[in-house]
Amino acid sequence: MSYSFEENARLFVEELPYRQGEYAGRNWGHPWHSLCSYHGKLKPAIAHFLVQAFTGEGDVVLDPLCGVGTIPLEACLQGRVGIGNDLSRMAYAVTKAKVEHPERESVDAAVENLGAYIEAHKREYCVTPLPYSDFGFNGKVPEYFHPDTYCEILAAREYFKNRELTPEEAMVLACFLHVLHGNRPYALSRNSHPLTPYKPTGEFVYKNVIGHIRNKLDLSYRKIEPDKLHTGKALCGDFHKIDSCFAGSVDAVITSPPFAGSMKFYIQNWLRLWCAGWEETDYKQADTDFLEAKQKKSMDVYYDFFALCSKMLKPHGKVILHLGHSRECNMADELEQRARERFHVVYRGAENVEHMEKHGIKDKGATFEHQYLFLEKR
Ligand SMILES: C[S@@+](CC[C@H](N)C(=O)[O-])C[C@H]1O[C@@H](n2cnc3c(N)ncnc32)[C@H](O)[C@@H]1O
Repeated sequence: MSYSFEENARLFVEELPYRQGEYAGRNWGHPWHSLCSYHGKLKPAIAHFLVQAFTGEGDVVLDPLCGVGTIPLEACLQGRVGIGNDLSRMAYAVTKAKVEHPERESVDAAVENLGAYIEAHKREYCVTPLPYSDFGFNGKVPEYFHPDTYCEILAAREYFKNRELTPEEAMVLACFLHVLHGNRPYALSRNSHPLTPYKPTGEFVYKNVIGHIRNKLDLSYRKIEPDKLHTGKALCGDFHKIDSCFAGSVDAVITSPPFAGSMKFYIQNWLRLWCAGWEETDYKQADTDFLEAKQKKSMDVYYDFFALCSKMLKPHGKVILHLGHSRECNMADELEQRARERFHVVYRGAENVEHMEKHGIKDKGATFEHQYLFLEKR
């Protein structure tokens, strides 16, 4: 039996299928959902059920604010064409690796090239003071690494900076960014945290960059058959500028914008963004470009967002939004107001999240409800 969009939406919110059985487990999902740690990542099981319930085989699914590509990857895994766009180069690289899923053999060749570059250039970075000695948020960048590891990291960073990434290079960069910091031996850093690069502690131990990337690749490709995935597309840039070649071709926009009042992801992810090529000035520029900061001044930026969605969608195309409700902002109210000119509101629902684990991240408490807004293009 096939249900209407509205009935499907109501069932989804009543059942919250991602909270049932194995889907509720912390590690549920395809291993590539864990390709690279990222603040703000959506639970893969939510993406899984949104794609399954609201799109069909072969549909084009766009996430204009895709982070590390959770929704586009789920789309590709389920035989849809997943397109992901993000303004952050780090997020773009990880998404590209996931949705363009290069074969392991060709990725190994890309690792070889990077290794040769590091060997040829690492000594150029062994200078006093070490580069970026005055830059960092939780700690200064060189404090995180043994000096010899750090010189290899700087060479690898230079290799990727401004490079037009192939899918293979995107995969290598994604693995490199993942192993950059953490609290276990897989990480290149001293003891820190895999998500937030808290000020490091413990001994300075040399870690070989290429060896650590290879280990992460081995884990990521274990039991994976990349050719079984549908191929999608990754885009890097402001959502306003998504290429108009996609106009009128999208069946569904499924996305999770930054929650109003939440932390700025580009500060939480600062060390990986630095490694992906950001300079100090980029963090300041982000305050004018990224939604996390823009929406603090005015939610009117969502008029542009819905204009973009409408332009990209086919007639009667769907928009499904995963939002956060805090004491300061009822995001679904704010967005609904700004969507009405171009979209019918089909259904709206919420999930109380006050009981959820907080992982020690202080502003999670501010969001007490996750909201779902289901829209159809007029
Ligand atoms: C909540 S996160 C999305 C997380 C994603 N669903 C995932 O699973 O990784 C919101 C994303 O919006 C991106 N973003 C913020 N402003 C943007 C803009 N103006 N254009 C494109 N992306 C933007 C941020 O970089 C961030 O990755």
